[in-house]
Amino acid sequence: MAGRLTGRKALITGASRGIGRSIAEHYAAEGADVFLVATGLPQLEATRDAALKHGHKAIIHAADVSDRHAVEAMIAACVDQLGSMDVLVNNAGIYKAARFIDYTPEDFDQVMQVNTHSVFHSMQFALRHMKATGGGKIVNVASTAGKWESMNQGIYNTSKHAVVGMTRCAALEHARDHITVNAICPGFVETDMIDQFSVHAELNGITPDAMQKALVERVPIGRMLQPDEIAHLAVYLASTESDGMTGQTITISGGMRMG
Ligand SMILES: NC(=O)c1ccc[n+]([C@@H]2O[C@H](COP(=O)([O-])OP(=O)(O)OC[C@H]3O[C@@H](n4cnc5c(N)ncnc54)[C@H](OP(=O)(O)O)[C@@H]3O)[C@@H](O)[C@H]2O)c1
Repeated sequence: MAGRLTGRKALITGASRGIGRSIAEHYAAEGADVFLVATGLPQLEATRDAALKHGHKAIIHAADVSDRHAVEAMIAACVDQLGSMDVLVNNAGIYKAARFIDYTPEDFDQVMQVNTHSVFHSMQFALRHMKATGGGKIVNVASTAGKWESMNQGIYNTSKHAVVGMTRCAALEHARDHITVNAICPGFVETDMIDQFSVHAELNGITPDAMQKALVERVPIGRMLQPDEIAHLAVYLASTESDGMTGQTITISGGMRMG
């Protein structure tokens, strides 16, 4: 039986672990060839091996997505090695918590470069390619932090708000090019990134365990999300099932944020 992504060629950034790894595995399971990117190759190898089990192509590529030249080369390599690129998933990201007043200008630059500039660079090259080839799908992994306020992570929220803005504007400008651009806005997802929330414990003068409990208490379904739950939505947004949807910023947060 054909998968929901049979024949698709998908580039996924931040595919070495967490949400990106799960998206890569689900895309491969649904029939896509996948081009997997992170800064280092060793961690990507496990994702590639898991993806290859589904019988389609899986290629790994080391690139720092905050570097425009590296992003241009990454997309060219994907097109060269997979034959095209129909789907781009901008998932790579970093997290840095601090009181707004305490962030350094270097913190601001680093978070914006990795979370925001990267999306600008890759969307520009991808849109040019997709326009020339007759269409495509862009899925940006933003965050609930891209639509709402949060304590002690102002720069992260700023970087994700910009991703939401770019998603909507690019979607509008390319709607007639058969290109959809949507964003997924997850709440708390159990990955390595969540471990960095221990900084919030320090800032609030509580233990990491108490912090973890407080986070889960904020989620109406009573638990954090698993990477797979984000990947299911990413499959939908890469498939023809979502052709009528563009410029959307879809919240998946166990009910923590509604609307
Ligand atoms: N976990 C959550 O609760 C949550 C909630 C909302 C949104 N998100 C967003 O979801 C996305 C994935 O997060 P995650 O939780 O899966 O985080 P994660 O487990 O820390 O994974 C982050 C991924 O991004 C890659 N990466 C980081 N900097 C990079 C760079 N400069 N160039 C290329 N790749 C880079 C990492 O690989 P290397 O380090 O090997 O390069 C890794 O594969 C992020 O955009 C994050 O902001 C996460």
